[in-house]
Amino acid sequence: MNCNILGAPVQDGAGRMGCEMGPSALRTAGLVGALRDLGHAVADLGTVAPTPVRPIAHGNLALKALPEISAWTAGIADAAYAASADAMPIFLGGDHSISAGTLSGLARRAAQTGRPLFVLWLDAHPDFHTLDTTASGNLHGVPLAYASGQPGFHGYFPDLPERIDPARICTLGIRSVDPAERQALRAAGVTVHDMRAIDEHGIAPLLGAFLDRVTLENGLLHVSLDVDFLDPSIAPAVGTTVPGGATFREAHLVMEMLSDSGLVSSLDLVELNPFLDERGRTATLMVDLTASLMGRRIMDRPTRSF
Ligand code: ARG
Ligand code: MN
Ligand code: MN
Repeated sequence: MNCNILGAPVQDGAGRMGCEMGPSALRTAGLVGALRDLGHAVADLGTVAPTPVRPIAHGNLALKALPEISAWTAGIADAAYAASADAMPIFLGGDHSISAGTLSGLARRAAQTGRPLFVLWLDAHPDFHTLDTTASGNLHGVPLAYASGQPGFHGYFPDLPERIDPARICTLGIRSVDPAERQALRAAGVTVHDMRAIDEHGIAPLLGAFLDRVTLENGLLHVSLDVDFLDPSIAPAVGTTVPGGATFREAHLVMEMLSDSGLVSSLDLVELNPFLDERGRTATLMVDLTASLMGRRIMDRPTRSF
């Protein structure tokens, strides 16, 4: 497979500094080498730039860095569109606000191919706030709402060329949802597999059912992996840890199933804050998970063993 690596060192969408160093840490942990070892042709396209920042005022005075994140969203959307023409883009965050841009650019690309875009959101949080409902004001809490066409972004974030159908979005690993998000997710029809569902059913059947839907519609599949999807005991390098996350084995199983499916067309690796890491263990885990998604196996297995 041809892969395009793009760094998006955004940190203004998170509540604290450090995600700016995310792309460097993922590169230092050996991402490019791991992909090449698996036989992929990797082009590191370097660092994405925001468009020029212009002043934007909004009635929600809690919002932080709205002009900056709006400018990053525009720049990342253009880069995502360009980088997805003939290769699988892998976006190195940066906080999760980068996905406002990646999803926008990828939705525009998908529309051109005539195939529907599906999104698998691996996260403790659904990031489904609008600019009006976020109480923290941290814009890493809004990208999924923006990309699926929820109201109130016009004039503040770049207008979306194509919205992603909320019915084609599956969130997995969820365990921290704000009241406004809960209501909006339900109204929009987003699939929410919270940790309770994972405990009751196991992660494989939940993911398998979603992958079957992507297959049925011949869809493209974007995977957005937030570090806090993982349990903090194995992935401490994130500013928004929530106890009770995915285990090491659950996370690798998800990645191997995604690899088996052959459906994944793009990937975000987000929220890594290397300032909070312990000797690079979280960055290394993110690289190992990416390797599983891209074909690394313990033993050979038949396709779709689930
Ligand atoms: N819902 C909370 C907020 O809006 C947490 C969001 C965390 N998002 C993330 N990408 N880590 O502030
Ligand atoms: Mn997130
Ligand atoms: Mn999160």
